[in-house]
Amino acid sequence: MILVEDLTYWYAPGTPLAVKALDGVSFSLAEGKFMVLAGGTGSGKTTLAQHLNGLLLPSSGRVQVGGRDTREEAFRRQLWRTVGLLWQYPERQFFEETVYREVAFALRNLGADEEYIRERVAWALRAVGLNPAEVLDLSPFALSGGMRRRVALASVLVYRPRVLVLDEPTAGLDPASREHILGLLKKLQEEEGHTVILITHRMEEAARLADWVVVLSRGRVCLQGTPREVFQNPAALKEAGLHLPFPCRLMHRLREEGLAAGTAVLTLEEAEAELERLRTRGRQH
Ligand SMILES: Nc1ncnc2c1ncn2[C@@H]1O[C@H](COP(=O)(O)OP(=O)(O)O)[C@@H](O)[C@H]1O
Ligand SMILES: [Mg+2]
Repeated sequence: MILVEDLTYWYAPGTPLAVKALDGVSFSLAEGKFMVLAGGTGSGKTTLAQHLNGLLLPSSGRVQVGGRDTREEAFRRQLWRTVGLLWQYPERQFFEETVYREVAFALRNLGADEEYIRERVAWALRAVGLNPAEVLDLSPFALSGGMRRRVALASVLVYRPRVLVLDEPTAGLDPASREHILGLLKKLQEEEGHTVILITHRMEEAARLADWVVVLSRGRVCLQGTPREVFQNPAALKEAGLHLPFPCRLMHRLREEGLAAGTAVLTLEEAEAELERLRTRGRQH
């Protein structure tokens, strides 16, 4: 579905302000998979996200979606319909007077008829855990932070892009809104077959959700693999400014203490099972 090959991107090329934000980035992602794109601040995550829906074009290398190059102009103009991008802090870009108009915006642009739009808007609001009857006529600016983020997500879901790219969608949210959004993304992937690319620096989210993890550091891919593979390399993660999820960190720590703890654990349940295994083995010796 997504193919990124040797992608390099310069901001302000050929000027004294030139910045190489991406440097030889390559990865691919099959349709229906869940990818986490991780990395510290300034590592190039947002720049990469903007290449996936054609907002930015490679300085060199290429980006393909569904087998077509984002450099094809006609394809690029339509690409937003296939790859829905939820911006970082999307609620800062609200401009409509009501939640209804905000969520309906993309479908109105597509010229859909009003009855269909109303149905889709109500569906999208319910999907993000809001009651349409309660929020449709409110100003988006009157909502709490968590509700605004949900409205922003609804405004992308409403036109059903097959690929969802979400730039730190849970940043700054309360735990309940965060959980709701993550649960929803997993559900959209598993039940509706969406391809999801989630940008986050929380490795717990990668452990729970991802089929594939790509870690950026200074514009380069410093690690990629399944979560289990990536978490086998705590030194590289640390170098990239990221922390291991707690259960995995615990196992690495026990190993440092000389215990034969397996480190390929993702969840607390798996950590518990591994501790139990160590305990019964300890008794046998
Ligand atoms: N519009 C821009 N103009 C110039 N440099 C930029 C611009 N946006 C980002 N950069 C630079 O590109 C690099 C990658 O930034 P970004 O993609 O925003 O990283 P992240 O999302 O991981 O924090 C950083 O060095 C950043 O300063
Ligand atoms: Mg960013």
